[in-house]
Amino acid sequence: MDRIRINGGRQLKGEIRISGAKNAALPLMVAAMLSDKPLVLKNVPRLADISTMIQLLQQHGVEVSAAPGENGHSRGTTLTLKTAKITSTTAPYDIVRKMRASVLVLGPLLAREGRAKVSLPGGCAIGARPVDLHIAGLKAMGAEIDIDGGYMEARAPKGLKGARFTFPKVSVGATENLMMAASLAKGTTVLDNAAREPEITDLAECLMAMGVPISGVGTETLTIEGVESFREATHSVVPDRIEAGTYAMAVAMMAGDVELLGGRLELIESVAGVLRSAGVTFEPTERGFRVHRTNGALHGVDVMTEPYPGFPTDLQAQMMALMTRAEGASMITETIFESRFMHVPELARMGANVTIHHESALVRGVPKLRGAEVMATDLRASVSLAIAGLAAEGQTTLHRVYHLDRGFERLEEKLAACGADIERLKG
Ligand code: UD1
Repeated sequence: MDRIRINGGRQLKGEIRISGAKNAALPLMVAAMLSDKPLVLKNVPRLADISTMIQLLQQHGVEVSAAPGENGHSRGTTLTLKTAKITSTTAPYDIVRKMRASVLVLGPLLAREGRAKVSLPGGCAIGARPVDLHIAGLKAMGAEIDIDGGYMEARAPKGLKGARFTFPKVSVGATENLMMAASLAKGTTVLDNAAREPEITDLAECLMAMGVPISGVGTETLTIEGVESFREATHSVVPDRIEAGTYAMAVAMMAGDVELLGGRLELIESVAGVLRSAGVTFEPTERGFRVHRTNGALHGVDVMTEPYPGFPTDLQAQMMALMTRAEGASMITETIFESRFMHVPELARMGANVTIHHESALVRGVPKLRGAEVMATDLRASVSLAIAGLAAEGQTTLHRVYHLDRGFERLEEKLAACGADIERLKG
């Protein structure tokens, strides 16, 4: 298994190109199952989760071809997806257990074929993560769904019908599943208390390019008119705000100065706000934005994760790594997922001072972190350990890098190009 070795203490200077967002690309790829016309997706990141999704879609009958994007792979991959015919309506456990986003095929399969059998994703490292909202929404559209043998067995023999559904809790995945199902349902669907994440907006824009009328994009009420057929469409994946926020924190940690090419500052306003209070400067540039902390100390700030436009849970671990070196204390509260503090014991092995009390973690800044052997537990936790390693004295070795490879494209190359002493050890 690959490991990543970091020798800490190097300043970061230069530029980093931000990839397309994994969490936008995955639902966009699934949207191709709705239509028998080709969907061309540009700026798709090269990541393990994208390969897993290709594997899942191919076994449902989607033809997928990949080509380097403009300027070679530095601008991501261009995927062409075509679903002339669905050849299987079953999403097997072996694939779904690897990647929870696989449950997104439930709505499109049901809408197009009138039936679907999708494995329950099961528990995962950051909490129980149920799928009750996906199920309740599809039932409101006329589906019958039973759970049997670890699978959701769904039927809609007469097709799905447009409905009004209010999410009792904001869910990104359930909103995406219902948006796709509604695109092929008879009549109008209104989704209230829908998620407003930029990845939702990206999906809405792609569905609109495919010919689906959608209003309320970017608000908590989405109105979707079902269609009978789709248009051929081309869509470019939105830049990854989580990757941009992660590098902003790495730069802040190392008192660096880096331009994030293609990064969109307006998508991380809540994060930039918190980091500004901590002593970090952001400036929009023609090519993206610049982040720097060239003088002055880092200050402890409090953070609470919330649905967009609040502070994203996917940046909570990275923020905690940053706060371990701040002056003063920081209270970090996780409201989206329980058990999302798996990185705390690993950060503690590097000398961090963190106390967990229920859903909050009190981080008291320490004068230095020490390099150590650490273990990645999930995708975002793994990158938080890399950020800590950049600042630690001596050598840090990060194990279980496969977590990182699910969601961060060429992290070690991007950081090394800015001066970090970081390398991948193969095998
Ligand atoms: C997506 C992101 C993930 C991010 C999360 C929150 C993708 C591929 N993943 O995950 O990186 O951390 O949004 O921003 O885009 N819930 C229920 N019932 C459901 C569904 C969700 O109770 O049926 C709960 C979850 O347990 C959690 C909360 O709702 O507490 C939000 O989860 P959700 O927004 O659905 O997360 P995902 O779509 O799985």
